[in-house]
Amino acid sequence: MKCRRCREPAIIDLRRHNAAFCKDCFWRHCHEQVKRAIHDFDMIERGERVLVAVSGGKDSLALWHILHELGYAAEGLYLGLGIGDYSDESGRFARDFATRFGLVLHEVDLPGDVGFDIPDGSRAARRAPCSACGLSKRHLFNQAATQLGFDVVATGHNLDDEAAVLFGNTLRWDAEYLGRQYPVLPAAEGFAKKVKPLVRLGEREMAAYCVTQRIDYILDECPMAVGNRHLHYKELLNRLEDSSPGAKAAFLFHFFDKAHQHFADAVVEERDALEACTVCGSPTPAGECAFCRLQARATRSDAIPVSIGRRPV
Ligand code: AMP
Ligand code: FES
Ligand code: ZN
Repeated sequence: MKCRRCREPAIIDLRRHNAAFCKDCFWRHCHEQVKRAIHDFDMIERGERVLVAVSGGKDSLALWHILHELGYAAEGLYLGLGIGDYSDESGRFARDFATRFGLVLHEVDLPGDVGFDIPDGSRAARRAPCSACGLSKRHLFNQAATQLGFDVVATGHNLDDEAAVLFGNTLRWDAEYLGRQYPVLPAAEGFAKKVKPLVRLGEREMAAYCVTQRIDYILDECPMAVGNRHLHYKELLNRLEDSSPGAKAAFLFHFFDKAHQHFADAVVEERDALEACTVCGSPTPAGECAFCRLQARATRSDAIPVSIGRRPV
């Protein structure tokens, strides 16, 4: 197997691109895919300050690395979610990366700074852990970006993540979620711009990027995400991809090109109608925002603590 670009021995083959690459050309390929996503979707203007949400996993650390190498002013944000050993370990990978490359990492510790962790939040709100977690992450990413003066929040969602989410949204024809599913959500009153620069790169490519660049990342999946339906959708799409290479990217990018516009107007109208949360000031349809309601419920003194993983939380 030879590299498509330089004919040296290849280290990875990408059936979707009908190509194989050596280490250096693969590095270039990843950078080009990110540059192209940023350009095609107008994600980041030169001079804008970027806050990269880093979980300690392969995608977000690779994203931070690539943005840094492309010359963007990118600082990191790590949220300690209070999910036992998993959170302790993922925080260590994020901090070690920042130290190694001399980059600034901001941190929010949910139990210490917000008063609850994800296991408590999920119990108190009677929501699946990933739902309470997603709500908290979206709120805290935006709050940190607006308070710290960042223009853009970048997350490490990759092609596989986005195709699986699209699959779920399409199975239910969930117009609201389909309207919000796009690699860039523009800034608005109270909202920083949100971007997903890895949307053209798959999970396997991101793992290979980290291995070839010697970036250490947490291998474990979140223990609370076991059985999550997106993992199931990913498996289904991988089976489809095995028999039809490129099907996953076609599904996602044809949605962006041909269908997303039909769902987008509802999101703009929804955003225009938002008011400031009466507690924290974040945009919300009315009264207290969903995060403040979750926080109030989860920090009530009668909330019962639960155990996750090996460490009682
Ligand atoms: P997930 O929702 O776990 O699939 O993660 C999607 C993206 O959200 C990651 O690529 C990161 O950019 C971001 N993210 C997830 N967990 C954290 C965390 N604990 N702290 C900061 N960012 C995170
Ligand atoms: Fe959010 Fe696991 S990272 S529930
Ligand atoms: Zn609020």
